[in-house]
Amino acid sequence: MRTSSTPQSISCRESIVPAVALFLSPLAVATLLILTVLALAGCSERERLAPPEEPGPKITSMEPDSIEIGAQVEIEGAHFGANQEGSKVHFGTREATVALWSDQRIVATVPTSAVDDSVYLEVDARTSNRIPYAIVEPVVALRLDKLQPARTTTGDIITIWGAGFDGQPGSPEMIVTFSGPNGRIQGQITVWTPTSLRSWVPVGAVDGTVQVEIAGHLSNEVPFSVAPTRIAYTAHVRPILQAHGCFGCHGPDRAEAGLRVDTALGILNTRSTHAPVVVRWDSPQSLLIQKLGPNPPFGDRMPKGCTECVTEAEILTLRDWIDQGAPGY
Ligand code: HEC
Repeated sequence: MRTSSTPQSISCRESIVPAVALFLSPLAVATLLILTVLALAGCSERERLAPPEEPGPKITSMEPDSIEIGAQVEIEGAHFGANQEGSKVHFGTREATVALWSDQRIVATVPTSAVDDSVYLEVDARTSNRIPYAIVEPVVALRLDKLQPARTTTGDIITIWGAGFDGQPGSPEMIVTFSGPNGRIQGQITVWTPTSLRSWVPVGAVDGTVQVEIAGHLSNEVPFSVAPTRIAYTAHVRPILQAHGCFGCHGPDRAEAGLRVDTALGILNTRSTHAPVVVRWDSPQSLLIQKLGPNPPFGDRMPKGCTECVTEAEILTLRDWIDQGAPGY
């Protein structure tokens, strides 16, 4: 039996309408009305016999409904097709990569640069219903990476580098603590960004660690030590450099590599070969310190040709000076 019903039903209706227009007598109209009703009934009877169209793809759910860029989501429903072939998953205007495709379940990766929109499928040029979604920012875990400096006197300000400092939406209850003689002591935060914060080192802090707490979440602890005194160039740094004969090569008569170290200003000058040799508040990054160790990044260990080199204790004093901001007095 021929089953193409749609063209037939159109031809039924088309055949009736001109006939109505031709016969205008009331009897003819009444008769034709009856015929019309019967004919239309016949048409729709034949329509009912036609096979139903293949149902299109239908999404019933997507998990999770708050989604992160790059995360995988599970889309459930019906009539997705046994495999992907040319079919697609769309997140708004973006196409997703598919990890798994079956007739009732798809696992897809939320595409980069997807924005709040709705997800839908395209299967054999037919589109499914749309399920709205919202992109959520991933929660960055609270973490401390580095202190700058990792050692200074109480009353100084340090920078704490890390991540997740804005992890809690709303007003963060953020606390910085330092090791104290009997448990932890709170520092005082001055400014913060998502990846760094600055805090005063509280009076009473002792060698130990720094930790950050936000709304009850604790970070890891990073080592911190307390310098006993303020280091001044004239009182503490200069005597060390002088005792090791630095001024003979980096002084008024001779300035090897364009560097003079007989004044604080000379050390901080920006015209030596690898200037700056001091990065204030960051002794590990400071060439002045790197050049005193057994493995300088270039050239010789200073003082050049030393047999009695600068001691660990002396280096610590120079470090403290830099980590306290390399004051010029
Ligand atoms: C005998 C001479 C001599 C003495 C003493 C000496 N230096 Fe040098 N220094 C040099 C020379 C030559 C260079 C350049 C070559 C090199 O980097 O090895 C240099 C380079 C440096 C640099 C790198 C500067 C730059 O911008 O490249 C630093 C920092 C430095 N010296 C620090 C010191 C300190 C601190 C002392 C004392 C503890 C000292 N030097 C003692 C000869 C000397």
